[in-house]
Amino acid sequence: MPNNAAALASRLSVAPMMDWTDRHCRYLHRLLSTRTLLYTEMVTAPALVRGGALHLLDYNVQEHPVALQLGGADPVELAEAARMGAEAGYDEINLNVGCPSDRVQSGTFGAVLMKNPALVAQCVRAMRHAVDVDVTVKCRIGVDDQDPDVVLPEFLSQMVGAGCTRVIVHARKAWLQGLSPKENRDIPPLDYALVQRMKEIFPNLHLSINGGVTSLDQAEALLDSGLDGVMIGRSAYHQPTDILCAADRRMFGAGHDTTAEEVVHAILPYIEAHVASGGKLGQITRHMLGLFAGQPGARLWRRTLSEGAHRPGAGTSLVLEALDAVA
Ligand SMILES: Cc1cc2nc3c(=O)[nH]c(=O)nc-3n(C[C@H](O)[C@H](O)[C@H](O)COP(=O)(O)O)c2cc1C
Repeated sequence: MPNNAAALASRLSVAPMMDWTDRHCRYLHRLLSTRTLLYTEMVTAPALVRGGALHLLDYNVQEHPVALQLGGADPVELAEAARMGAEAGYDEINLNVGCPSDRVQSGTFGAVLMKNPALVAQCVRAMRHAVDVDVTVKCRIGVDDQDPDVVLPEFLSQMVGAGCTRVIVHARKAWLQGLSPKENRDIPPLDYALVQRMKEIFPNLHLSINGGVTSLDQAEALLDSGLDGVMIGRSAYHQPTDILCAADRRMFGAGHDTTAEEVVHAILPYIEAHVASGGKLGQITRHMLGLFAGQPGARLWRRTLSEGAHRPGAGTSLVLEALDAVA
């Protein structure tokens, strides 16, 4: 079992989500929980290696432990992208074998790679060779008409053979024809039991489960069932307070619970610096809309921020005004 910072933090993680888990979102999540592992949006290896888009690696040192998710299918290019990520200081390099979008399919990477575990293994080997940090894989239980009971153990066995010590399984298939990426996160049924059986077959592989987890109670129950980690996507984004405020204590047995209000105050200097350097307030506040989800005043909080954030000169005073609305 790995024992580095990212592996320990992976008991609970916030999933990689394109356009959502950008650096501002991760900074906010880090204020809510000091321990939870955070993932970047997927960055494609070609964009880094051929496109030289180094800004895609930018992050704030406060975000640690933070993992870089890569997309790609070329071992040489992925190794180079992994090297760039490790050099930038990421604690883990993760390979995306779960994304079903058309754009990604045409580049022959993402979920379609479930059909070619030998190539994924080759990619993992090349990436491991290039970096010292953990190289992990996020996969599905299968695609299209594959039989997950056959495909998943075969896939994981190839990952173990390639020296991958940690895998995150989104516990549903991706249907590559006919479903949108959004539908592919809801319609194919979840099969937690299959992932739990994999832990029996591969006891030394660190296995995290992902898909449909909406509370810390549910996450704890999954850990109690023998799994090593739980990754939460949409619920962590839409109800960050519910998922992350008590995560340090409940999932890691350390630290104190945070509150949304405390975190709003704590993020003000970050917002101030961002706006002072020419950034837009909305780039940060769009990730804060769910902070008071389910609490009285939540709607006014959201409305004040979303209507005001794009006005010229908008800054921290708008955030404090919105906070007054909740209080
Ligand atoms: C807006 C959005 C963007 C996503 N982008 C990625 C991505 O870049 N890489 C990836 O592996 N999964 C991506 N996913 C899938 C999530 O990581 C996760 O596997 C999925 O949402 C299921 O977990 P959940 O039910 O907890 O949300 C995305 C999901 C959403 C909602």
